Amino acid sequence: MAGWSEAAPLRVSASQAAASSKRLAPASRARDALVFAAGVAAAVLALLGSASVPGGGIPLMAALPAPGPDDAPRTFYDDPELSYDAVRGRRRLTGWDAKRAAWLRSRGLDRRHAPERVVMVSGSQPEPCKGAAGDHLLLRTLKNKLDYCRLHGIELLYNRDFLHPAMTSYWAKIPIVRAAMVAHPDAEWVWWVDSDAVFTDMDFSLPLATRYAGKNFVAYGWPDKIANKSWLGINNGVFLLRNCQWSLDLLDEWARMGPAFPEHDRWAKTVLGALTDKGGSTWFDDQSALVYLLLFNWERLGEKAFIETEYFLMAYWLDIVGTLDGVAARYEAVERAARSGSSGLRRRHAEREHLRYAAARNAAVRGVVPGPAGGGYKGWRRPLITHFVGCQPCSGEQNPMYTKQSCDDGMRAALGFAGDQVLRAYGFRHAGLLNDSVRPLPFDYPAAPPSR
Ligand SMILES: *[C@@H]1O[C@H](CO)[C@@H](O)[C@H](O)[C@H]1NC(C)=O
Ligand SMILES: *[C@@H]1O[C@H](CO)[C@@H](O)[C@H](O)[C@H]1NC(C)=O
Repeated sequence: MAGWSEAAPLRVSASQAAASSKRLAPASRARDALVFAAGVAAAVLALLGSASVPGGGIPLMAALPAPGPDDAPRTFYDDPELSYDAVRGRRRLTGWDAKRAAWLRSRGLDRRHAPERVVMVSGSQPEPCKGAAGDHLLLRTLKNKLDYCRLHGIELLYNRDFLHPAMTSYWAKIPIVRAAMVAHPDAEWVWWVDSDAVFTDMDFSLPLATRYAGKNFVAYGWPDKIANKSWLGINNGVFLLRNCQWSLDLLDEWARMGPAFPEHDRWAKTVLGALTDKGGSTWFDDQSALVYLLLFNWERLGEKAFIETEYFLMAYWLDIVGTLDGVAARYEAVERAARSGSSGLRRRHAEREHLRYAAARNAAVRGVVPGPAGGGYKGWRRPLITHFVGCQPCSGEQNPMYTKQSCDDGMRAALGFAGDQVLRAYGFRHAGLLNDSVRPLPFDYPAAPPSR
């Protein structure tokens, strides 16, 4: 992040300038901001004093006295030239790191040691789904994201609009991710998650401040395919972007390859010709564009990009759905074996204490259930995300490699698997992964089996 000193002067529109007659001198603006920040800091301290915040990530902001239209210091939002729009913006958004920093400071939110705030962005098309039960499946995948976000103190933005008429389908994610960055200067990260990606480990927290420190883009990938210049080298159904100028520039560059720009056809030829497994195809998608951008500009972009391979930031569903019963059984066995009162894993608890129990469960299964936390090709750990690539639940037009039945059963199994992790805090679980009947959990479950 850039330092405060880089804060760029703002242009103020004619009417605002008239209303305030003269722009405040910088010193007096800074003093106002300081006085305001001190007030906010006192409010935060009072809040912290009256309630401890387990898990850390639970948003405090909702309780802060937010400045309103009349008393808020001016920020980049007051600049009429600044645009949310990835396509039609008249001017490139520059100096974002300083602008964001100035906004945070003006709201007293410069909490350097606080958890990094995340906004998850997902979405689907504006119209109803054509596929059988498509809207029901989208509802369930949305519920699954709501659950994960509630447990982890993440805000969820679900978008159903094409922000530009030409940026439809898979290209639609670029404009909304960009707009989300501008709308959420409070968020350090924007986390795009496709609608057909299902959280299957409600315990795993992203290693943002450790593993991804100093990185601006994170996606799951396959190094051998990257070496082969394959369009499948990374999967961009799930990716993280730090809310910073670097990411805005990447989004701008990526967007310019899309169908809203005149260069689109030229880019299609270049990209489809350069990637080794797109030969003969005319299907130019956003993932090919992003893979091309990263691979062919690695010297420029690679330093800030992180290709995750250690755990399933995104797993291919066919590798996962057949293992879920076995994974659940292994986690249960660990909890059953835990001596009551020693690890305390089986203690009932309020949902807001989830992250502490998640950490304890993680410690208990580590080394006992093989594989990395977040899941991997080897072992039996829960995969963080199972991605139903090619299933197209909304259109119902799945890849001919798969049957509708295998896709639907796979999604239901993954959603049921995740649902049981959530329902546990409410005292219930499903009769089976594909069974919608629920049973009450006895005290000290799973040491005592659930009743029939
Ligand atoms: C890489 O490309 C070669 C040659 O086309 C192919 O034989 C090999 O299977 C590819 N490897 C991967 C991991 O895709
Ligand atoms: C679901 O579980 C309930 C309760 O165990 C059982 O009665 C029912 O037959 C199961 N349904 C299916 C479709 O397996």
